[in-house]
Parts: sequence; C-alpha cells; structure tokens
Amino acid sequence: MTELTGTEVEKLIRKAEEMLAFAYTPYSGFKVGAALLAADGTVYGGCNIENASFTPANCAERTAFFKAVSEGKRAFRAIAIVGGKNGIQTGECAPCGVCRQVMREFCDPDTFLVITKAGPDDYRVRTLKDYLPLSFGPENLL
Ligand code: THU
Repeated sequence: MTELTGTEVEKLIRKAEEMLAFAYTPYSGFKVGAALLAADGTVYGGCNIENASFTPANCAERTAFFKAVSEGKRAFRAIAIVGGKNGIQTGECAPCGVCRQVMREFCDPDTFLVITKAGPDDYRVRTLKDYLPLSFGPENLL
C-alpha cells in the first residue's frame, strides 16, 4: 500500500467536498464529489453529472479520472470520495462497480487507495483490491 499522510488524506477529502457544489443532480439529488491524486502530485476534482436521458450520467470518480487521463496522466495514487442525498453526508459513499473497473484500468489494485469519509473527522482507507477482488484488467489482454 502506498502510504499517505493524514494531512494528504484530509486535503483530498476537503477537495472532494468542494466538488459537491458542482454536482449536477436534478434527477437523483444524490451529490458525489471526488478528488483524484495523480502520481505527480496533481489533484483532479470530479462531480457526478446526470442527464435527462438517465444512462449518460457520469459518476464523480469517472469525471475525475477522465479529466486526468485526457490531460495525459496515467499513474495515480489515491482517490477520495464523498457524497449523499442533497449533498448531506450520512456515511461512506462507496464507488460503484463501473467506477471500480475504470480505476482498475489505470491503477495497481494492491497499492491504489480509495478513501471514503465515514463521519465527521472519520475516514476509511482501503485498496482498490478490497473493492474489486479477482479483477479483470489490461494484462488479461496481453
Ligand atoms: N454516483 C457517483 O457519482 N459515484 C458513485 O460511485 C455512486 C453513484 C452518482 C451517480 C448518480 O448521479 C447518483 O450518484 C445516484 O446514483
């Protein structure tokens, strides 16, 4: 596991919380914010973006990943995720299955860290492998 300091974790959570203000959620009202730490230290924010046709909705985590990858980043250390109905956090917001698979494309399951906020001044840090064991990834196609 690549270690992160408590300060680094708190900075990522704060950035993810700032992204809640940009979540576009007229249909579900469920707002999610993410902050993705690239290996070079850059942090990419993301929010969920919904759509009247529903299926094109994009999760906060994928927004952050696609922003980073579209700017040439391919190596990442961690992502912080926060969220809740109407932006009110009542517990951990775990990444959906599709986002886990997108993380798997670019991140080492053993070392990439997924940070969730569990309550005021309380967070959990798990590896991608915790969220997506026995996964299928790019090396399967080699
Ligand atoms: N959502 C995310 O942004 N990330 C997740 O990992 C869980 C779900 C969003 C998608 C949709 O806009 C809303 O939350 C309700 O599913």
